[in-house]
Amino acid sequence: MNPATSNLSASTSRFVRACLRQPVDRTPVWFLRQAGRYMPEYMAVRKHHSLLEICRKPEIAAEVTITAAEILNVDAAIIFADLLLPFTPMGLDFEFLAGEGPVVHKPIRTAADIDALRTDRTSELGYVSEAITKVAHHFRAPRPDGDRLGIIGFCGAPFTLASYMIEGGSSRNYVEAKRLMYSDRGAWNALMAKLVAVLTVFAAQQVAAGADVIQIFDSWVGSLSIADYRDFVLPATTQLVRAVQALGVPVIYFGVDTASLLPSMKLTGADVLGLDWRTPLDTAWRDLDYSVAVQGNLDPIALFAPHQLLHRRVQQILDEAANRPGHIFNLGHGIVPGTPVESAKRVVEWVHQLSARQQNA
Ligand code: CP3
Repeated sequence: MNPATSNLSASTSRFVRACLRQPVDRTPVWFLRQAGRYMPEYMAVRKHHSLLEICRKPEIAAEVTITAAEILNVDAAIIFADLLLPFTPMGLDFEFLAGEGPVVHKPIRTAADIDALRTDRTSELGYVSEAITKVAHHFRAPRPDGDRLGIIGFCGAPFTLASYMIEGGSSRNYVEAKRLMYSDRGAWNALMAKLVAVLTVFAAQQVAAGADVIQIFDSWVGSLSIADYRDFVLPATTQLVRAVQALGVPVIYFGVDTASLLPSMKLTGADVLGLDWRTPLDTAWRDLDYSVAVQGNLDPIALFAPHQLLHRRVQQILDEAANRPGHIFNLGHGIVPGTPVESAKRVVEWVHQLSARQQNA
């Protein structure tokens, strides 16, 4: 084992221990998009700063990260950033348009476009690691129960980032991305290789700054068949996962609509697989032979349900995990705007209470 990884086995963070499938006193919990527009404190910052300004100013990104983690009382803080930030040093301009999401000004479509992508300017992303340094400093001391909050750094996965680069934004059918993938293997492989190179350096900066775990978001990988995933995406993704693990931290690999892909995603060697809510946690984990940790998988829209029903769903997910080492409670995808903050806080409390009681039973 990598010496840095073996240090983690003595981690005082129950979140990190769960990533490594080590026993914990209770199930750790955090939420995808826990800092976001559903939270008044975030909107107050957004009134004065654009999304990219928040990301690029370490002081503000750190504050937003810390505030969300403290309000919710979760066991891990994910750094406030965005999947698309590495596009800038690679030479692709983009912006976020209200209501539309990200827009890449000149999407890539040809081998020449891919040739032109830069891989030598990743140091320009240093503002993300500066923010992580501040967050890690803030949470350096153990909490009253002795647990140290986990710090999560993140990056996009090669397929999901390629889809934004090629489509130019969000997409329903990924026609352009898949067309390039199918029709020009050389160009596709070159693009995957450039993304892996940049993302590996970006992840290394985040780990050096204090990230305990790296989550790799392959949000849209569920659009692929198993055969296409294995042919076109698995090799580069595996390379990235292994390179991040070699830095000495566990990797969480997350996608949406992945029920049929999970066994193939496991082949990347990721320590933890994110499960969306369409996949029952118990059968998904069993089908993975319990040989990987799992994170999930409450429907984020269940946070709009009456608390009695919401409580039942939380209990159900904990029952499905059955106290096996290696479960991190989370949503199956990000919190959406309009979510009652009170419901998110209650879920954290319930996970804390219910999983501790179960572990003593
Ligand atoms: O606490 C957190 O998790 C927030 C940090 C975070 C953001 N983006 C900030 C953000 C994280 C982890 C991301 C990752 C991200 N970015 C993903 C993967 C996560 C997933 O949901 O699968 C993706 C696909 C992106 C690209 C992206 N950024 C999109 C598609 C959008 C628009 C979505 C929308 O709901 O409008 C964004 C914008 C964005 N990134 C917001 C936030 C808080 C909301 C917009 C805002 O504040 O103006």
